[in-house]
Amino acid sequence: MTLKGLFCKSLFLLWILCAFTYAAKGGSRRGYKLTTTQTSKATLKNRQVDFLAPMENISIPLGKDAVFTCKIDRDVQPEQLQLVWLRLDSQTILAFKDRTVQNNPRIKISNEERREFSLHIENVQPEDAGVYVVQINTNPVSQMRAYLDVLVPPVILPSETTEHASVREASNVTLKCAASGHPPPVITWTRDDNGYITPRGDEKALAYNGSELVLERVGRADMASYLCVASNGVPPAVSQRINVKVDFPPMVWVEPRHVGAWLGGSATLKCETEAHPAGVHFWFREGVVLTNSDKYDILFEPAPEPQAYRTKMSLLVKNINSKDFGDFVCSASNSHGSVEGVAKLYEVDIPPEARTTLIPKGKSTHRTGAKKKEKVLYEKQGQMEQDQPMPVEEHVKGALRKKETGNSAPRDSKTSSFWSFLYALQVLLIFFLDRIEW
Ligand SMILES: *[C@@H]1O[C@H](CO)[C@@H](O)[C@H](O)[C@H]1NC(C)=O
Ligand SMILES: *[C@@H]1O[C@H](CO)[C@@H](O)[C@H](O)[C@H]1NC(C)=O
Ligand SMILES: *[C@@H]1O[C@H](CO)[C@@H](O)[C@H](O)[C@H]1NC(C)=O
Repeated sequence: MTLKGLFCKSLFLLWILCAFTYAAKGGSRRGYKLTTTQTSKATLKNRQVDFLAPMENISIPLGKDAVFTCKIDRDVQPEQLQLVWLRLDSQTILAFKDRTVQNNPRIKISNEERREFSLHIENVQPEDAGVYVVQINTNPVSQMRAYLDVLVPPVILPSETTEHASVREASNVTLKCAASGHPPPVITWTRDDNGYITPRGDEKALAYNGSELVLERVGRADMASYLCVASNGVPPAVSQRINVKVDFPPMVWVEPRHVGAWLGGSATLKCETEAHPAGVHFWFREGVVLTNSDKYDILFEPAPEPQAYRTKMSLLVKNINSKDFGDFVCSASNSHGSVEGVAKLYEVDIPPEARTTLIPKGKSTHRTGAKKKEKVLYEKQGQMEQDQPMPVEEHVKGALRKKETGNSAPRDSKTSSFWSFLYALQVLLIFFLDRIEW
């Protein structure tokens, strides 16, 4: 190493020592000036050179590169000019003349044509945010400062964010969503199904801003997926889905309560239940659980989300015989309770249009067209639904009246009148049997 190099190096180290001694003494932040220029013999006279324009504040997204640039108003011999970059907050020197001082590979300097000088901070990190100062060795020192703002996209903080909530109906629930980021993110709540939110019993709205969403006296309609979105203008925005489950004991509705059917026909009984958590469902007859068989077709059909807590229960009773009339019980139960509903199957007389269907296959005297019609009727399998059962007497009287007035479709064939006779006989028989039983 040459003598000149050694000298320069010693001078440089001496300068750093002085700078740090000053900083350690605790130079006040306001009016802080580094004494670099005082230690240098190459002090430039005041107004001999000055900065051309103020240094710009910059906002840089995390991970991108930041550049501060300053320009001086005239050419100065490089050996005369001492340009220093430093950070005000930590009072550290970043670069001096044509070299960086910090052992930070992300910091670089450059200059263009003797007049334009830049400080590069690559891959900016949150800790890079702060005030940066550039000085030149005039007397007194000329300096400029500018602020580096590091924009950080939002990140959901799992420890302060609700994962999911399961609450009893009519209780209160608080959903939390927290996110870091710079500037501080705004938290917006919506429902996945675009349903209404009623924060704190306020007016319902489609969206709500705030890190906490309080739902008071929750109902089953509040059961949904809630979405909290954290955004601060720095992409990407992030979101968290929070499922809210509302628990309640089962309820049941039987509709219709009474279903009429005739011998040989079939009938469908229906119940609708609501329960959360999902209940178990059964149809009972005289205390025995019914299963799919030649006699019964059972169907449990949950409603689509978000109303999956509703279930439609149906029971198809086939080939009805006299033992099938009576009460059928639909039941639903979950961890919060159980409930039962009763549907009553009662007997009605065969309506005239279904009567012909009793004609045994192959014995019919009707030809093609009429036969087709009968088949359709037969497949339709008669059933009457009424809220209140009509007294059996009414049916009988009605049937008799119809017969008297000859209201039923005219049938000329012998077979038709034979079956009509048989039917009237059957009606009378039922009428008297009923009398005896009651
Ligand atoms: C930079 O930001 C500071 C503080 O936020 C402000 O006082 C100053 O005027 C800004 N400088 C420029 C050039 O905009
Ligand atoms: C729910 O919140 C309301 C209003 O803050 C309060 O009056 C009520 O007692 C709370 N209910 C329960 C079950 O905590
Ligand atoms: C929530 O905040 C955003 C951003 O500040 C605003 O645009 C929006 O209108 C606010 N929404 C509600 C419902 O307050």
